[in-house]
Amino acid sequence: MSNSLIQIAYLVSVCCFIIGLKKLSGPKTARTGNMLASLAMLIAIVAALLDQQVVSFPMIIAGFILGGAVGAVFAIKVEMTSMPQMVALFNGFGGVASSFVALSDYWTPRVDGTDPIVFATALAIGISVLIGAVTLTGSLVAFGKLQGLVSSAPITYPFQKIGNALLFLVIIALFIPFCGDPFPAWPLILLLIASLGLGVLLVVPIGGADMPVVISLLNSYSGLAACATGFVLNNQLLIIAGSLVGAAGIILTVMMCDAMNRSLVNVIFGAFGAADSTGTTSGEQRSVMKYGVDDAVMALENATQVVIIPGYGLAVARAQHITHELDQMLQKRGITVKYAIHPVAGRMPGHMNVLLAEANVPYDQLVEMDSINSEFEYTDVALVLGANDVINPAAREPGSPISGMPILDVDRARTVMICKRSLSPGFAGIDNELFYQDKTMMLFGDAKKIVTELVEALRNGS
Ligand code: TAP
Repeated sequence: MSNSLIQIAYLVSVCCFIIGLKKLSGPKTARTGNMLASLAMLIAIVAALLDQQVVSFPMIIAGFILGGAVGAVFAIKVEMTSMPQMVALFNGFGGVASSFVALSDYWTPRVDGTDPIVFATALAIGISVLIGAVTLTGSLVAFGKLQGLVSSAPITYPFQKIGNALLFLVIIALFIPFCGDPFPAWPLILLLIASLGLGVLLVVPIGGADMPVVISLLNSYSGLAACATGFVLNNQLLIIAGSLVGAAGIILTVMMCDAMNRSLVNVIFGAFGAADSTGTTSGEQRSVMKYGVDDAVMALENATQVVIIPGYGLAVARAQHITHELDQMLQKRGITVKYAIHPVAGRMPGHMNVLLAEANVPYDQLVEMDSINSEFEYTDVALVLGANDVINPAAREPGSPISGMPILDVDRARTVMICKRSLSPGFAGIDNELFYQDKTMMLFGDAKKIVTELVEALRNGS
C-alpha cells in the first residue's frame, strides 16, 4: 500500500477518534462515540499492518490471538465493581507496550534506509521509557491496593517526598549521557530501572480510596508514553492518539478532583484514604427511624414525583435492573420518576450512567446534579439506593473531610427514603446526619432485596 494511502487512513482514523471522543462526553451519544473510536482503532490497525515496515505477520497474529483472548476473558469475568482494577491493569499494559516499542527501536540494528538515532529520537525513547515504566509499576501498585493484594493504607516514611524528588532528578540527569552521541545503552537501562522504582514509590503513599483518581492520572500517562513512542517511530497517528488519551485523562482527573473538592496535589501528596476514611464517625449512639417495605410502598404510591439516587451500593447489590422495573411500575401509576446523577457517585467516572444504561433506563430520565438540585423541593420521595457521601449534608459544613464537595440536595425533598444495609459510613468514612432526620425513612437491607420486595408489594397491591 502506498505511503500516501496509509497517511490518509491514519488521518481518517484520527478524525474518527476525535469525533468519537466528543460523543463520549454525553450518555445519549456515548454508544456511537464508542463505536466510532473502535472503528478508528480498526482503521489504524489495518493501516499499520499494511505498512511495509511490518515484517512478521505470524508474530502479530499470535499477539492478536493471545491478547484478544486475555482481554475477552477479563471483560466477561470482571465484576462491574472491579472495573477500576481492570482499567488500572490495562493502563499499565499500555504504558509498558509503549516502552517496549521505544526500546526495540533503540536496539533495532540501523541498516541502510533506516533513520539513524539522533538527539530527538534518543530524547523520545528516554521519555517513552520513563513514562511507560512509571505507568506500569504505578498501575500495578494501584491494582494491588484495590484488589486487596497490598495494604490500601497510605505507606509513608520520613523524607519520602524528598527521596522521590531526588530519584526523579537522577532520572532526568540520565538523559544527559543517553542523549549524547553515540547514545550508549547503560543510561537507558538505568533510566528504565529507576523509572520502574519511581512508579512504585509515587503510588504507595496514596490511600486505596484515592486510587480511582490515580488510575485516571496513570491513564493520562499511558497516553503520553504512546505519544512519545509516536515521535520515536515518526508515526503521526500515535502522536495524535496518545495526546488525546493524555489530555482526556488529565481533564477527567481534574474533574474528579473538583467533584470531590480536592486538589490533585492533595490527592497525590495528601496521603488521604484509608487513614481518613475510617473511624471519623461520631461514635455516638443515636436512633434512626426504621421502616418496612409496606410503609415505603405507601409513600411511593402517594407521590407525584420520585427521584432515585443511585450510589456505590446499587452497583454492589447489582440492583440496576430491578430498580428500572420499579421505576416503570411507578410511572405506570402516573408518577414522574427521575434519576439524580452525581459526578462521583460509585467508584469510577460515569459509574452510575453505565449501570443504568446496562438496565436500559432511558437517558432522558437521568438528570445531572446541577439540574436536579433545584427539583428536590418539588419532589415527594427521594429514594436513595446505596448512596451515602454524595447526599451527605456534612459537605456544607466547614471542617468535615468532604467540606465543599457538591452534593445532591435530597434533604430538600418531602421524604427521604434511604436503602442501605447498616449505618456504616461511605467512602469518606463520616457519619451522615440525614439518617437521623425526621423526614428520613431508613430501609435497612441489600438494595436488590429491598427493591425486589418493593416491586412485589406494588405488583400485589395493583
Ligand atoms: P459511598 O459514599 O461509598 O456509600 C455507599 C453506601 O452503599 C455505603 O454507605 C454502604 O452502606 C452502601 N451499600 C454497600 N453495599 C450495599 C448493598 N448491597 N445494598 C445497599 N447498600 C449498600 O457511595 P456514593 O454515595 O456513591 O459516593 C461515592 C464516594 O466515592 C464519594 O465519596 C466519592 O468521592 C468517592 N469516589 C468516587 C470516585 C468516582 S470517580 N466515582 C472516585 C474516587 C472516589 P452499608 O454498608 O450500610 O450498606
